[in-house]
Amino acid sequence: MKVVGGSASTSLAKELARELSVPLVEVRFQKFPGGFPDGEGYVQLLDSVRGDDVVLVQTTHPDEKIIELFLLQDAIRDEGASRLTAVIPYFGYGRQDKKFEIGEAVSARALARHIQLQSDDVITVGIHNKKALEHFQIPCENVSGMPPLARYLRGRNVNIILAPDENASPLAKEVAEIIGCPWDFLEKERVDNFSVKIAPKNVEARGLSVAIVDDIISTGGTVAVATEHLKVMGARRVLAACLHGLFVANALDRLSECDEIISTDTIFNPTTKVSVAPEIARAIRERVGV
Ligand code: R5P
Repeated sequence: MKVVGGSASTSLAKELARELSVPLVEVRFQKFPGGFPDGEGYVQLLDSVRGDDVVLVQTTHPDEKIIELFLLQDAIRDEGASRLTAVIPYFGYGRQDKKFEIGEAVSARALARHIQLQSDDVITVGIHNKKALEHFQIPCENVSGMPPLARYLRGRNVNIILAPDENASPLAKEVAEIIGCPWDFLEKERVDNFSVKIAPKNVEARGLSVAIVDDIISTGGTVAVATEHLKVMGARRVLAACLHGLFVANALDRLSECDEIISTDTIFNPTTKVSVAPEIARAIRERVGV
């Protein structure tokens, strides 16, 4: 087995190869310094994958990383790999898994259809909605990325875990059960793409160290408002932990009231403090029976 990392997931691919004790294939991402003048992507595998069971790791965000994923699949297949598992740590475009209005594309389906053309199986991490996986016609599995966040939070003396809304409550429950502390959820109402409202709810937060957990922090609106709410309710510390730290635009500035921000390496960023590699490695070992 060998691991190939796309440029959106180099750190996680390295960790995964280490976890699995298999080689990491070296990849070149530019033919010339500065890349092609028109901005098109390029990949070249610098180690052989002939006859190998290859695990390709690439988050599908931002858009150019999707093209790079297809280029890597092409190269891996063409160089004679015996098998290709596509690990998509953050499945960008996975949130639209159905058509809400006539004429809309189902983005999760569009990506799934293309990814599966050159993959034998797929592993995602903490996918926003598991229904998106139904668009794959090859074996696919979603692994939870919450255990590494829980292990980190256990060391931060957190008293209660909160989800910002009911949809995220299974995540809060999973983390709280690992830590062995209580959990609850707030009631969020989305106003627009950048702002949310949190309905008044009596959560016992006075004097406590609270961790808000969610799958994605995008604009930071959800966590910023939840933090404000918890501080008004007397929380001593508010930590914000997410799987996929997109942090678009000025999201990190909006989170200045948080005492600590934690994310995983599904999207490597300055707040990445834990790796989901052990969870992916476990799924791969179970699949190949080692
Ligand atoms: C929503 O369904 C997700 O679980 C997150 O709560 C959401 O993506 C966070 O977005 P933002 O950071 O823009 O409030």
